[in-house]
This record gives sequence, C-alpha cells and structure tokens, in this order.
Amino acid sequence: MIIKTKKDIPASEITDPLVFNNRRKIIKAILAGAVTGIGISPVSAANNSIAWPDLPRGDGSAGLLTPTPAELVKNYTNYYEFAFNKQDSARLAQNLRTDSWTIEIGGEVENPGIYYLEDVLRQQTLQEYIYRFRCVEGWSMVVPWVGFPLSCLLKFVKPLSGALFVKFTAVHQPEVMPKQRRNAMLEWPYVEGLRMDEAMHPLTILAVGMYGSILPKQNGAPLRLVVPWKYGFKSIKAVVKIELVRRPPVTSWCQFAPHEYGFYSNVNPAVAHPRWSQSSERQLGSGFFTPRRKTELFNGYGEQVASLYRDMDLRHFF
Ligand code: MTE
Repeated sequence: MIIKTKKDIPASEITDPLVFNNRRKIIKAILAGAVTGIGISPVSAANNSIAWPDLPRGDGSAGLLTPTPAELVKNYTNYYEFAFNKQDSARLAQNLRTDSWTIEIGGEVENPGIYYLEDVLRQQTLQEYIYRFRCVEGWSMVVPWVGFPLSCLLKFVKPLSGALFVKFTAVHQPEVMPKQRRNAMLEWPYVEGLRMDEAMHPLTILAVGMYGSILPKQNGAPLRLVVPWKYGFKSIKAVVKIELVRRPPVTSWCQFAPHEYGFYSNVNPAVAHPRWSQSSERQLGSGFFTPRRKTELFNGYGEQVASLYRDMDLRHFF
C-alpha cells in the first residue's frame, strides 16, 4: 500500500504511525551520517547502530525471495567513478561526500527546483522492496532495498505533457573519484535514462537504504535508482539531478558502447551480449557446485512490466 501525503496535512496525521516513525528515524539517521561524515564501511556495517524494525513491504510480493548475505552485496560493487574492480570501488567509495545532498529536478515539470534530500524524504513513505538484481556481467543477487516509488517524486514536481523520458545524472566529485579525475572510460558524470512510463511504474524506486540501514556509500548513498527488471547498470547511484525531457537521453553506457548496451537494457535471456550469453546467471553467495540460475525475461517481473513493451521488437530495442 502506498500512502500519499498531502502538502497541507502533516504527514504524521495521515500516515500509519509505524511508517511515520520509521521514516523519521531514517531521515535522522541519514542526516546524522551526513553531518558527522559517518558512512557504513564495507566491513563494519554489522556494527552500525542504525537499524530499523520491519518496514512495510512495497514490492507486493509474499516475501518468497531470500536476500543475499549483506556483506557480499556491500563488498562486490560496481562503481566506476572510483575503480574498475569490485573491492577497490567499495573501499574508495568511502571518500564520497554525502553531506547536505540536494537533487535538482528540472526540464518539463511545473515545479522545477533544487530540493534537499531531507525535504524530499519528508514527503515520502519509506518501504522495503525485496528485489532480484541482475548485472549485465552475468551475476545476480537479491537485495532488500529501503525506498519509495520514483513516481511519487515525479508527481510532486508535476510533469508537463512534453515529459516523455527521464534523465538521471550522478554526482561529480573528481577530487575523490579517481576515474572522473582521469577522464577514464565513460563520459562523466554517469548518466542514465528511462522512458516516462518506465519511470512511473510502481516497481521503479529511489532507494535510500538496504538491509534496514542507510545505503552504504559503495551501494549508491545517499540516493540511487533501482529498476529491478533491467540490467543493474540502469540503477544509477548517487543521483543529484533528475530531468524530464522530450527525447531519449544519451546514457553513459550507450555512448561508450552502443552495440553492447542499449537504452532499454531489459533483462532478456534471449538477447545475448555481443561477447557472452545472457541465458543464465551466477547467484552471489551460492556454493561453488550450485548450478547457474536460468535468467528470466524481465528478471522475473514480466507479469508486471511486459505490457510496457507490448508492440516492441526486444531484439532491436535491447
Ligand atoms: N552508478 C554510478 N553512478 N556509477 C557506476 O559505476 N554502476 C552500475 C550501477 N550504478 C554504477 C552505477 C552497475 S554496472 C551496476 S551492476 C550497479 O550499479 C551495481 O550496484 P551495486 O554495486 O550496488 O551492486
């Protein structure tokens, strides 16, 4: 259940008290982390005192997915601004500055502006979303995110009729991001994009936490996109700008290798990456002898999202 808040009524009066109190704790915790510069280090997350009791579930599932062990998810990260390997990116991401985080929202909207994350969160009801996450590299995991539907934020800024796509831009901090400093590989900052109906889909969320704690820096703190039916690179970390635009934005990976990484990048076992098959995946945390999992079309979310692509040739629009 998504509980909407109206501007003129205090959220505490119309929101389930459990939800409201959890949200206040999360905002407080995010701010405490931001003000004192305390992030969750890859190894010390278990000792972090910030934890929340059960949040209401937003993903509509009956809880059948078993989350991947948190330590694996926190130490096996892709964060190319910091490093091209998983361990270094988790370590170096601790240098990211997340204090006084703002999100600029503009383009085809009635209410453009620069919003403090804190103010955005005051408008939202945080819930837990346990999603499968499939990387284009051929591995997968299950992550319990804490966040809210992107659609709630977009509705708040009131899209205009020209808003056909959404462009997301990640933070630019070359002083702490070695690959940005050296202009290595991608065009920086990291850019991603969605079609407007994909962005408004209830499964598409902005996450501020995972495993009941604030988002570790290496996993996209303080705010990242999560689109569970698309390859992981679409789920851009450290978002600072959201623009509603008329044309499909040029995304970082499309620009880098357009024949390998399409704009849609829906998980699809029938469309191979030019250099490897996408028909199966290695599940993080599974034993050495565990067989690979068969990859599902739309990462198993077909029932909810297949209609978005009804008349499209998915081989062409990969
Ligand atoms: N966002 C930014 N800003 N920079 C990145 O390098 N990597 C992407 C995506 N979002 C990336 C990013 C890729 S390739 C993947 S697979 C996922 O983040 C990985 O998310 P995780 O590290 O939390 O598992």
